[in-house]
This record gives sequence, structure tokens and C-alpha cells, in this order.
Amino acid sequence: MTTTTTTARAFAATTTRCCFSSLSSRRPENHRRRRFQKTIVVSKSSSESTEETAATTTPTTAAADQRPLSSSSDDDDDDYDCVVGRLLPNETAWTNPANGEEYRLQTQTHELTRDTTVIRSLDWDRDRFDIEFGLEKGTTYNSYVIKGKEKTVLIDTSHEKFEQLYMETLASVVEDAETIDYIVCSHTEPDHSGLIKRVLERAPDATVVGTKVCLAFLDNLVQKEFKKLVVKGGDVLELGEGRQLKFIPAPNLHWPDTMFSYDTESELAFTCDAFGAHYCTENVFDEDLPKLMPHFSFYYECLMKPNARSVLTALRKCEADGVKLSTVCTGHGPILQRNSEELIGDYKKWSEKALEKAKASVAVFYTADYGFSDRLSQSVARGVVKTDCEVAMVDLSTCDAQQIVEDVGRASGIVLLAPPNANEDIQDNIGVLIGAVKPGKQKILVCESYGGDDEPVDPLMRKFAEIGLQESQSPLKCQSTPTEGTYQLYEEAGTDLGQLLTQKEKLKEMKLSMSADVARALGRVSGGLYIVTALQGTAKSAMVASWVAQASFEPLGFTIAVAKDRAIESLMQVGDSFVLNCLSEDGFEAPMKHFLKRFPPGADRFEGVDWKPASCGSPILADAVSYLECKVVSRMDANDHWVIYSEAIDGGVFNKDAKTASHFRKVATYY
Ligand code: FEO
Repeated sequence: MTTTTTTARAFAATTTRCCFSSLSSRRPENHRRRRFQKTIVVSKSSSESTEETAATTTPTTAAADQRPLSSSSDDDDDDYDCVVGRLLPNETAWTNPANGEEYRLQTQTHELTRDTTVIRSLDWDRDRFDIEFGLEKGTTYNSYVIKGKEKTVLIDTSHEKFEQLYMETLASVVEDAETIDYIVCSHTEPDHSGLIKRVLERAPDATVVGTKVCLAFLDNLVQKEFKKLVVKGGDVLELGEGRQLKFIPAPNLHWPDTMFSYDTESELAFTCDAFGAHYCTENVFDEDLPKLMPHFSFYYECLMKPNARSVLTALRKCEADGVKLSTVCTGHGPILQRNSEELIGDYKKWSEKALEKAKASVAVFYTADYGFSDRLSQSVARGVVKTDCEVAMVDLSTCDAQQIVEDVGRASGIVLLAPPNANEDIQDNIGVLIGAVKPGKQKILVCESYGGDDEPVDPLMRKFAEIGLQESQSPLKCQSTPTEGTYQLYEEAGTDLGQLLTQKEKLKEMKLSMSADVARALGRVSGGLYIVTALQGTAKSAMVASWVAQASFEPLGFTIAVAKDRAIESLMQVGDSFVLNCLSEDGFEAPMKHFLKRFPPGADRFEGVDWKPASCGSPILADAVSYLECKVVSRMDANDHWVIYSEAIDGGVFNKDAKTASHFRKVATYY
């Protein structure tokens, strides 16, 4: 009989029995267990799989004493050797000022090697990251302590809301904070750097290590003098006895300041946002792949796909620098170890696919350490990516002329976030950009950065118009601190630009791919007419829907198909609420005509419309014959649409005698 060996991942996909149930507060703290390796033997002839579990206690390489230690479940019969670390008893709650709800906070530590410890801040109930990213299972913020022979290093911290818990936990790992020599800041978003200021109060002599952009951001956050060390690719910190911490810049994963660190002795790679997941469990590692996977892939889709080219560049750099991505210490969610090869492979595969599928390329020029340029540019990029375009993010403060020429040469669309007015180097780069554009062949979008000293956008746009570039729309203005509504505006403008660049090719592809008979037959499947409305903070949106169908009795659930490039899609993440307004046979024309209009980015879809808020805040239209208030349960990827399955949690009928509007088509090539 022929046998082949498959990965733990293949096994995980077919046989899931994780030891969540035995996550043991009974377990002795830092209880160390044998390290288990799973080998799955698959019989080709029978397609049946059996498992061989080999317990190994003997290190097999020189670095083996630095390899991850496991403190695992007590249940040896479980298929997974889940590691849960030490959960600290001092849990607290954080009150969300937006809704008054209490969110549970907890910390956990685990020794990854004899001298490297992870401190995980478990934000069990966090339900959102920015406007576009709904969280289903909270998240974690991971911080790492390395006690080298001569130097002690802290890699990243935690979110401010964890201040008390994190500082107590850090003190339990590093008794005397003054022994911390270096604080590595992988990325300055506050979920990782929010407590650097507090750590510096306890360790005032520590040197903060980061990229140039990172330390410039950090100055604003810390707002007092501290020791700094700017590092670039190839730089190392000596930790003692030949051990080094090596740095690998990874711009745009997820901000321009991001860098990875790699411990040459333990072979642990610290990658901050990259390869993470917003998935809060007590499991330190990635054993339970089936449960992790939806969060891992959704995280990639939201944060990394707009930066697919940067993902591939970072992977190439790691390979060239001898950085092993076998134990990947992420900034969010579980550490990748048991399935790291496959999960890193997914990043590569998904990024290559995103670039291959791209119907057009858009170069987004921003200035990393200026105003809100970085965040607003990411919103535009997200909007562009929804339309199957590739995005190249280019930082005007660090790029060179050659990169500008290459990225502009490849692009059919250009986005320029207004740079600071008085920076000579950046002005030189703008000159290169103007010289590189292709008159008559490219579209451009110019936007403000809200940095206080923006180059005025209208004259900037006029310069591009004079040399023959067509604007996708008037320059975007941002005249106060960005809110959900501002990010929505920038994202929608990105989507509009992408649609403009890809619509012809998409129509051509659709016609070629569809059999005329099948399209006519499918057109006979009828639907209703509905207006879906949704609201998050200051962002609200609406769309006409006709692909709506009941899907379950218990719970009362139904599906709606939403095109991936619809603006409202960002407000319909798992856990989000929305309203389905049913239109009547006699009164559907007016609301349908209104909501079918092509609204400019950020436009108020409800201006002149009579509505009142449902309990979730989303609009119930006065023109509706009935309404349902719904919560999104799951989303299925249907290539160019999301099929969104939702539970109806409330509803009402305003006119019992009215019939629901029906929607008939002759062919399935349009809505
Ligand atoms: Fe997890 Fe970009 O911060």
C-alpha cells in the first residue's frame, strides 16, 4: 500500500477535536509538557487517514533548546495539543463610550523559549477595528520579552485600555523594568505602541528601536524626550554571546512604519500585524486551524490584500535575509507555529492571486509621517481593491525617483494624498511624478491629508489637468479630524476610481463568460424589491436589493447578495446590524429611483428621504411597506458578490393590505 504524509493542516481540515473544553485554569502555571509532533498518514488506496503522534523530548538541532515550549492541555486523548499559557486572574472591564457596553479584558503569558515570553492582552469582546473591519471573536495584542545574555528586549506593548493589566503582567515577567534595554516598536498604531509611554516611565533609560517613520510617529505619541535608535533593513541589535535581533522593514503591513524582527538564536520571527488574526482565544498557538481560518483569511482580505505587492516584497526580503518563518510571533491572535508553513503559503498564494486577477493598477502616493495621510490613503486603497485593481502604495517621503517612475508607468490610475507644502524633497518627488504621468491615459484622484500644512489640492489638480490627466472626481477635502464618515468618503472615492478603470473589461468578461440561453433562463428567477440601509457612527449607506431570499426558519434568517464593490458592504460585516425595507407593489418607484441614483462618494443617501431610526440606528424608510431589523451571521464569498446570511431580530408591517413589489427580468446579465 502506498502512503504519503500530509501536513497537520490537512488533518485539521478533516478532523477537528480541539481541547478548548479542557482549557484549564486547574493547570499549574507554566506547566511544561512534551512537545508533540503530528504525522498524518494517508492511505491513497482507501483515502482514509490515520494519525501517528510522536512525542519528542530530545532537541534535534543546535537551536532546539530555544524552540517553543508547550504548556498544553492535560487531556492526552485530544487531537490537538493546545497550548493555553498562564491566564492572569486580574481580569477587568473596559466601557465602550459609544454604546456603554462593558468589554472583558484579560492578560496571559507563555514562555515560548527559556528566555522569550509572550504577553497576550485578550480583548475578548472588541467588535470593530476601524469602519471596515467587524470583529466576531475579539482580538489580542501580543507583546514579547526576550531576556538575552546581555540585553533585555521588549517587542511592542499593548493597547492603552490594558494599562493596569499589562503593566502588572509585564512586572511579573520582568521584575525590574529598569533592566529593559530596548523597546522595539514594530509599528506605531496604538494597539501595539499605546503603552510605550508608560513603559518608558518605568524604564527611562531604555532605547526605543524602530524605523525612521515609526520613531517620528512615536514622538507625537510619547511627547517627551526618550532614547531612540533608527534601524533599517539589515541592521541588528546584539543581545549577547553572538545572538542578534535582525530587522526587516515591511512597509504597508499595515502602516508604512512597519518592520519585522528576527531572533537569530531562537529563530522566532516577530511580524506585528502581518500574518495575524483578530481572533481572541486562550490558545497561544494556531493548532485549531478550522476555527482560526475564517478570521485569518478575513484579516488578510481587510488589511493585507490592499497591500498584496508589499506582502510579496516582505516575503522575498525574509527569504533573502535567511529569516525563517516557522514560528511567527504575530501582533494579533495566535502565534503561527503548527501550521505556519501553510498559512504563510496562503499569504503568498492570495497575494499572487490578487495581483494576477488585477484588471488595472493604481499607484497611491501618500506621505507616511504627515497628518492623516497614511490612514486616509489606506481607506482609498481598500476602496480601489474592492474593484479588482492592484494597488501600489508609495511613500513620498522615502521613495526614490526610479520607484515613482516604475509605479506610475504601470498604473492606469493615480491617487495623490496632498503632501506637506514646505518639504523640498517631497516637492522634488512630486516633480518626478508630474514628469512620469501619461497624459490622456491615466485618471487621477487628489485628496487632502488633514496635516495642517497640506499642499492646496485644487491648484495641484489643475497642474495634472493641464498636462492631460483626467480627474476621477473633484479633489476630496478633509477639514476636520477624520471620522467614520471621512473614511467612508475616501473609501468610496477609491471604489469609484477603480470602477472607472475596470468597468469596460468587466462587462466584456461578463458577456464572454455567460451562455445566452443560461442567462435568459436564470433571468426567469424572480426577486423582490428592497432598500437595505445601514449605519456605523457617522457613516451610513443604502442600496436597492433584489437578490433576497429567506434561508432558514430557526432562526428566522435570509440571504442578500451584495456586490463586492458596493459601499454598503463595509457596514455589513459579521455582527453588524442593518434594516431591510420592503417596498410595495404600488409605491416602489419613487424610493427605487432615488436609491438607484449614482451617488458621489460620501454623499448623504438619505437627504430628502423620510426615515426614522430602528433600534440599531439604521434607517427605516417611511416608504417601506414593512421592515426587518437584522444582524449579519455569516458571509459567503460568491466571486463578485458576498452572500450575506442574516438573522431577523425585529420587524413590523406598516400596511397589511399592500403587496410586496416583485422584480422580473428577461436576462440575468443585469440586476
Ligand atoms: Fe494592529 Fe496596524 O495595528
